[in-house]
Amino acid sequence: MSYQNILLAQNEAIATITINRPNKLNALNKATLEELHEAVVDAESNSSIRVIILTGNGDKAFVAGADISEFSNYDVAQGADLARKGQDMVFDAIQNLKTPVIAAVNGFALGGGLELAMACHFRVASTNARMGLPEVSLGLIPGYGGTQRLGQIVGRGKAMEMIMSASMITADEALKYNLVNYVVAQEELLVFCEKLAGKICRNSATAIAAAITAVNANYEAGVNGFETEIEQFGYCFGTPDFVEGTTAFLEKRKPNFK
Ligand code: COA
Repeated sequence: MSYQNILLAQNEAIATITINRPNKLNALNKATLEELHEAVVDAESNSSIRVIILTGNGDKAFVAGADISEFSNYDVAQGADLARKGQDMVFDAIQNLKTPVIAAVNGFALGGGLELAMACHFRVASTNARMGLPEVSLGLIPGYGGTQRLGQIVGRGKAMEMIMSASMITADEALKYNLVNYVVAQEELLVFCEKLAGKICRNSATAIAAAITAVNANYEAGVNGFETEIEQFGYCFGTPDFVEGTTAFLEKRKPNFK
């Protein structure tokens, strides 16, 4: 598929998906969300891709939110539909990918932009990044999982404050609240994320997929995460990567995971 609103690049086993509407600060319109869905589904089914980095084009924004111009005349049913489709096709889809996704937050990550970063498995920010959920300033609430994921990451009190105040926090504040794992200079952001991705690539893809399933289970309503961990742990014993990983350790060599 050819894309109008995103750029795709692959360097060995690392795919970079760049949201490419810099004139609109990479705001997520319907077409961009559809392309993102296609791109992550494609990346997941491509066995040569081991890690995905998600970022925004330009030096100003990761994503400045959902495209406000598209939904300003929506009614109740259309609003609910927008949130449901977005969550199903993009935000939950990314969180549940078996391929690790790192958000490289290179500027404003607001509203749907912060929600997108939070759906990724973890986040790295550049020093100029600003993050927030400003929806209540528009008479809305976050609709792409922000009310749920922000509390899971920064705790309920800070999430309440950020959502109610609609204010932005700096990259250093985000680091303090564990919303991002690292803060680096903007020009180093992608290289830094690629290095992290390289470390991940050295490990077993099947074990990493099992770990994502087990960690995510903690946040799924009605699911016993400890039980999921037991199942996934057992599953790993039946994989070629388990044979290779343990054999390599006993033979005092590096594993060669296929
Ligand atoms: N939806 C649609 N368009 C957006 C957008 C969004 N969420 N965020 C930015 N844009 C557009 C602007 O309308 C502008 O387009 P134009 O040049 O055609 O007028 C362009 O991107 C540049 O934005 P601008 O506001 O001029 O940049 P700025 O540096 O003055 O301000 C922000 C940057 C991020 C503070 C400001 O753009 C903003 O508040 N955006 C909305 C954030 C938001 O509320 N997101 C949640 C949406 S639910």
